[in-house]
Amino acid sequence: MQVTMTVNGTEVTRDVEPRLLLVHFLRETLGLTGTHWGCDTSNCGTCVVLVDGQPVKSCTTLAAMTAGHEVRTVEGLADGATLDPVQQGFMEEHGLQCGFCTSGMMLTARALLDREPDPDEATIREAISGQICRCTGYATIVRSIQWAAAHPAAPADREVPA
Ligand code: FES
Ligand code: FES
Repeated sequence: MQVTMTVNGTEVTRDVEPRLLLVHFLRETLGLTGTHWGCDTSNCGTCVVLVDGQPVKSCTTLAAMTAGHEVRTVEGLADGATLDPVQQGFMEEHGLQCGFCTSGMMLTARALLDREPDPDEATIREAISGQICRCTGYATIVRSIQWAAAHPAAPADREVPA
C-alpha cells in the first residue's frame, strides 16, 4: 500500500507493507536512525517520535496509521544550525551517557514544553515516566529539561556540533 505523511517538514510517499511498523519505516525506509528500537514491547520508550506533536511509541504504531499526519523525529528537532533548547539543555546539564534513550527523551520533553512551558519537577518526571534510561538515574535528564524550560529560545550563535 502507498502511504504519504510529513516527516520533519517534508512530505514523503512510499510503498509499504500494511504490517510495517513506524519505527522500521523511519529507520530502514527513510534512513532516520536517530529513532532507536530498544524492546519492541512498548516498555522502554526509546522509539518515541512525535505524531501531530504528541509522543507516540513508534514500535507499536503502524506506518500506515500515520498516513496524512505529521511525524517529527530527533533529526527534525534542530532548526538548521540552531539547536532546539531541549538539545542544548541535554548538553548543558549532561543529560545523556550512552545516548540510547536520548532521542525519545528529547522528543517527549519537546512535547511537554510545547503544552506546558514551565513544568515543575513532578510534571517532568511524570512526562518521561514511560521511558527507561539505563545510565543517568534521570536526575540529569530532569535538569536538562528544566534548563530548556528556562531557556525557551536557543541562542542564535549556538551551532550543531560537527
Ligand atoms: S522500542 Fe518502543 S517502547 Fe521500546
Ligand atoms: S543515556 Fe544511556 S540509556 Fe539513557
